[in-house]
Amino acid sequence: MTNSTILTGITTTGTPHLGNYVGAIRPAIEASKDATAKPFYFLADYHALIKCSDPEKVRQSSLEIAATWLALGLDTKNATFYRQSDIPEIMELTWMLTCVTAKGLMNRAHAYKASVAENEANANTDPDKGITMGLFSYPILMAADMLIFNANKVPVGKDQIQHIEMARDIASRFNHIYGEHFALPKAITNDNAATLLGLDGRKMSKSYNNTIPLFAPEKKLKKLINKIKTNSLEPGEPKDPTDCTLFSTYQAFATESEVEAIRQQYANGIAWGEMKKILFEKINTHITPARERYDALMQDPKHIEMQLQEGAEKARTISAPFLLKLRQAVGIQKII
Ligand code: TRP
Repeated sequence: MTNSTILTGITTTGTPHLGNYVGAIRPAIEASKDATAKPFYFLADYHALIKCSDPEKVRQSSLEIAATWLALGLDTKNATFYRQSDIPEIMELTWMLTCVTAKGLMNRAHAYKASVAENEANANTDPDKGITMGLFSYPILMAADMLIFNANKVPVGKDQIQHIEMARDIASRFNHIYGEHFALPKAITNDNAATLLGLDGRKMSKSYNNTIPLFAPEKKLKKLINKIKTNSLEPGEPKDPTDCTLFSTYQAFATESEVEAIRQQYANGIAWGEMKKILFEKINTHITPARERYDALMQDPKHIEMQLQEGAEKARTISAPFLLKLRQAVGIQKII
């Protein structure tokens, strides 16, 4: 198997924020334009059920994430953009993989272990309290996401590397029993992609509640940028750009020479209020055209749905025949 298929999933919980954009979405959209890559990007809506049992939230998040990717110019001719739940073969493969996955392998998954550790820290008598089979088996669903399209390059955050390794284990086991059906996926972590800091100076993350929504309306964007934490140095006092949230955020949106000019202004003692104004202008100018497309798309959900349907159709030309082959390989087939 010498293909080079890039694939990544986005769990449909929450609203995309600037950190998601800079760290994952922007590089993925760039890659979508590379005709030699043919990437697969999908809304991981069945993954959302692991963390979220509010149907309205899952629905709304799927819509917002799809609109976001389309508004940012995802090349849907080159990339295959679909919703996981539109590809029934993924769920079917999940069961086949479940039957070759060692329980001990799942016992070692970080997400599961962290939940157990939390229960133990809280002196719960049951270490598995509140842990669903969804959370426990989630690496198997993720393996099916990748293996159904024989993905071999999977761009992810560092927290996901273990899951890709587990997928390799599971795929090897299946190949060993039933013959060489799967390519082994490899995690690609982009060390050049910036990690944005949030309003409080920690990593920008939904779980810290310190995010700036990517398409926040102009006024809201300004308000949030004004909330970014700084130290108490006065205007005129020289400032250090290292470990400064305003500076590193600016860096994620500006050219090198613009960054150098701001570095000089820090040395000259720029006021924090002034820097916040500059940062707002920079981000707002960058985001405005996409925000306008986003707002228009959100008014036209039919168009979004159509794009997803087209993507699913394209994806299923691969997944449907492949699953038939896999069914045969395991002995699930018509008698004659
Ligand atoms: N679990 C991933 C995350 O939380 C999302 C995801 C689901 C994914 N399936 C995938 C990523 C397959 C890469 C490949 O970020």
